[in-house]
Order: sequence, then structure tokens, then C-alpha cells
Amino acid sequence: MTGSVAAAIREALLECNPWAKAMATRKVARDWRLGKLSFAFDVEMPDLPGRPDAPELLPPNRMPKRGKGGSERGRIALWHALAHIEFVAIDLALDMAGRFGGEMDEGFVSDFLSVAADEAMHFALLDRHLRTLGSRYGALPAHDGLWEAAHGTRHDVAARLAVVPMVLEARGLDVTPATLERVRANGDERGARILERILDDEIRHVRFGAIHFADVAKRLDEDRDSLWKSLVSRHFGGAVKPPFNDSARLAAGLSRDLYAGLA
Ligand SMILES: [Fe+2]
Ligand SMILES: [Fe+2]
Repeated sequence: MTGSVAAAIREALLECNPWAKAMATRKVARDWRLGKLSFAFDVEMPDLPGRPDAPELLPPNRMPKRGKGGSERGRIALWHALAHIEFVAIDLALDMAGRFGGEMDEGFVSDFLSVAADEAMHFALLDRHLRTLGSRYGALPAHDGLWEAAHGTRHDVAARLAVVPMVLEARGLDVTPATLERVRANGDERGARILERILDDEIRHVRFGAIHFADVAKRLDEDRDSLWKSLVSRHFGGAVKPPFNDSARLAAGLSRDLYAGLA
């Protein structure tokens, strides 16, 4: 053993350099899988994870327009926005495992560390793709809304699971197929394959969220669906909006009668 899983997670969260964070994250996940880290939660997770100087973070309404999807500039803006989402997703998954692992169990930690490792891989794939277009992560501003959802639910694992995997990541399942189709239609086959892989992985991430949420609801002796609905309306300002990717959501364990009621 080389230490507690919480200390290793905290260190990866505090890393500011995006590429170093991605590598540190994959190492935490690997060390945990190999039994090198103890199931101990002896340190707290930071309120704000380490962030690089670039990209500059802007509120969503101050983000520059992306321009036409087909232009070089528009393409770079798209991949940059996706890379940023994956970068924040690394912290979201690490924070899930490190903040709530102690009150949950080893399986929960394993699941969300594997999610964190996936997000680190997604980030690396997207940054590499950006470089083939002559750009890189950090070259453009990015929007600062995603971490807020995590911060607002930092005291409640049920709320965190309800909002992060079951609303935000599920939203990714809804919007990715259209992006993928557009990218493929523009002749970017390599980009399309990256998005296919991400979509597959994200179904698994949402499923982990749904499974652990159901466990928490059971432990609290609450009805899963009504608990989810009340937590989403309390902690997630925006409405859960169609169009929904019903088949991907179903594969992730979200049935239509759950989320359609909130639309
Ligand atoms: Fe991802
Ligand atoms: Fe994810």
C-alpha cells in the first residue's frame, strides 16, 4: 500500500496542468485497481480543483459564437468545447469518488475511478485531435458552468448522483449523435470515431450513476423516481429538455417515465 485512496484522489484533483491531471488520474485508477491504495478517507476534497491559466473561463453568455460548423474556426471551437467538458468531467468523477466514497463502498470508488480514467482518456483523445487541426486545449476560452453543479451538491451524494451523471452526462447522450453525424458528414472520420467511443463510455457512466442512485434511495427508504425528481428540481435550475436519446438512456438504465415527467 502506498497510502489512502482519498489522498491520491485529492492530489490528482489539485493538479493544475491538464495533461498532468489526466495522467495522475489514470494512475490513481490503476493503483486502486491493483490494490495499492487503501479504502480510507483521511483528507477532504478541495472546494475548487486545480485549474490551468488557460483556457480563460467565461460565463456561458460571454462565450464567443462558434461560427459555422464547417469552417476551420468552427471545427476547432467544437473540439475545444468538447475537450473542456471532458477536462471538467475528470474532476467531477474524481470528486465523486473522493468525496462520497467513504459513505458508499469500494464498488462505488471503483466505478467512479474508472469513469475518471475514461474522462482522462477522452480529454487526451480530443486534445490530440485538436492538435491535428493546429490548435490545442487552452487556445480558446471555455465556459465555466459545469463545476457549479458539483459545487451545489457537495453535501449530498444523492443530489450529486441525480444531477451529474443522471442529468448532465445523460444530456451528453442526447446531443452527441447529432454532433457525430455532422462531423462524419464533414468528412472527419477520425473525429467521428472518437465521438463514437465517447458515446459508448458515457452510457456506462450514466448507468453507474443510476445504479448507485437506486442504492442510495433504497438505503434512505425513498422511492427512487420521486427522490430523483425532487432533487433535480431543487439542485438543477434548467429544465430537463427533449429531444431525448431514448435508446441510449434506456441502455444506461434511465426509463422514459422517469425523465419525461420533468421535461
Ligand atoms: Fe467523457
Ligand atoms: Fe462521462
